[in-house]
Amino acid sequence: MVFLDEANWSSFLRCVADLIGSAQVLSMRDIPHHPGCNCYEHSVFVAYVAFRLARRWGLDYRTAARCGLLHDLYLYNAREPGTHPGNQCFDHPVAAVRNARALCGTLSSKEENIIISHMWPLAKRRPRSKEAAVVNLADKFCATAEVTQIWRAMRMRQLVSA
Ligand SMILES: [Fe+2]
Ligand SMILES: [Fe+2]
Repeated sequence: MVFLDEANWSSFLRCVADLIGSAQVLSMRDIPHHPGCNCYEHSVFVAYVAFRLARRWGLDYRTAARCGLLHDLYLYNAREPGTHPGNQCFDHPVAAVRNARALCGTLSSKEENIIISHMWPLAKRRPRSKEAAVVNLADKFCATAEVTQIWRAMRMRQLVSA
């Protein structure tokens, strides 16, 4: 499948090289997400789809890939009581921004908006850049592919778990 060719995957990895092997990002492997899929697998999938869409549309694909990887860096198991203060839908983008800022040292306002707005329109923070819209779209596409198990047919599981 052209979607997952070697050249595109290598280009993607160069965009996220300093993040994807970090302890914080790898720890998402221990956090369950959609059925049969952990938070790390979901985040890499979203990052890769956002990277492909952003590059195809002439956008800042490096920022889309990096923020896609960090968009769900909330780092707690939402199924355990007491891990976050309120509704997971609204709480987790806030925690992800906080953890992404700690990991990267600093985030631009554009990067913060990409992460915090990924639950729009369920949450009220709107995407304010084309890259934020791309990550938002990629998140919804990937969530649908995961829930319906289509992502296994896309060979994403083998790739992101490697
Ligand atoms: Fe999310
Ligand atoms: Fe997500």
